[in-house]
Amino acid sequence: MCATSTLLCSHLVIQKISLLRPLLHWRKYEHRHGLIQSLLYGHFNRSISTTQQKAKDICIRVIKPADRQRVLDFLRIHFYCDKPYVVATTANINNTALTEPDKADEDYNISKIEHGTCLMAVDQQSQATVGVLLAGPKGPNEAELLSIRAAKEGLTKWSVILKLWERAERESNVYKRYGVQRVLHCTVLAVDRNIRGKRIGARLFNELQELGKTWNYELVTVDCTSYYSSKLCKQLGWECVNEIYYNEYVNENGHAMVNAKPPHVCCRTYAVRL
Ligand SMILES: CC(C)(COP(=O)(O)OP(=O)(O)OC[C@H]1O[C@@H](n2cnc3c(N)ncnc32)[C@H](O)[C@@H]1OP(=O)(O)O)[C@@H](O)C(=O)NCCC(=O)NCCS
Repeated sequence: MCATSTLLCSHLVIQKISLLRPLLHWRKYEHRHGLIQSLLYGHFNRSISTTQQKAKDICIRVIKPADRQRVLDFLRIHFYCDKPYVVATTANINNTALTEPDKADEDYNISKIEHGTCLMAVDQQSQATVGVLLAGPKGPNEAELLSIRAAKEGLTKWSVILKLWERAERESNVYKRYGVQRVLHCTVLAVDRNIRGKRIGARLFNELQELGKTWNYELVTVDCTSYYSSKLCKQLGWECVNEIYYNEYVNENGHAMVNAKPPHVCCRTYAVRL
């Protein structure tokens, strides 16, 4: 697809989605309703955009509930194994490898799919997944919810991550900072490790902003735990609203909660108004 037709296609999709807004409002209550889902996913199933160079045949579309296992398989290779940090533990928590995610971690992230606000990059020729972005709504009480969830977890790798997110929520305090009512938060961004550095991550973030607008969100946020995702947000002009340095993220005994290798030194929270 050439650049002009891509732009036209993108424009038409967004225009048609705008007409669906009244229906989309119902979705909060009726998100499992087949009609609304097929209208939404039907539109975003089409190619929204394409890039030049090697990634010219890559399209970005909304992740459907049926993609669940496919997304999980992708994340196990290209996200969980490649996260910029591992939880620092005194014992082998859960008796699993440090890079292996807890089931609750996977379940939480994958549950974002049902909101219709998650995106995947697909190679149109091979139909392979080459990128995934998971995002969902968060409310003004997100920090409290994360705290409760972490307390229920006990001492697990997932609880350490939840506590990091909780602190990022409290410190960035985006509802108050921006005076907004609806915030879309990205919890996962991952690109196939064989084709990183080709702007696929940037495209996923850009498309998230467009998708967020169609859902009437006012702000998009993300906690960048990686130096590269942080660099990406900065390049896109998003505002850095908080930083948590890993060497300062310690438990009550002063022990590090996570281990990260340079260039990954902190978790930066970014926000962009829609
Ligand atoms: C973070 C990530 C999604 C970026 O995706 P991407 O498609 O490579 O991003 P972009 O191509 O838009 O690049 C953003 C910048 O980071 C650089 N970059 C990204 N990954 C890189 C890597 N592994 N090594 C070196 N540079 C890298 C790019 O070169 C680019 O910088 P530049 O413009 O100066 O060249 C990808 O590196 C990834 O999947 N990492 C593992 C999972 C992860 O850490 N996710 C983020 C958690 S918040």
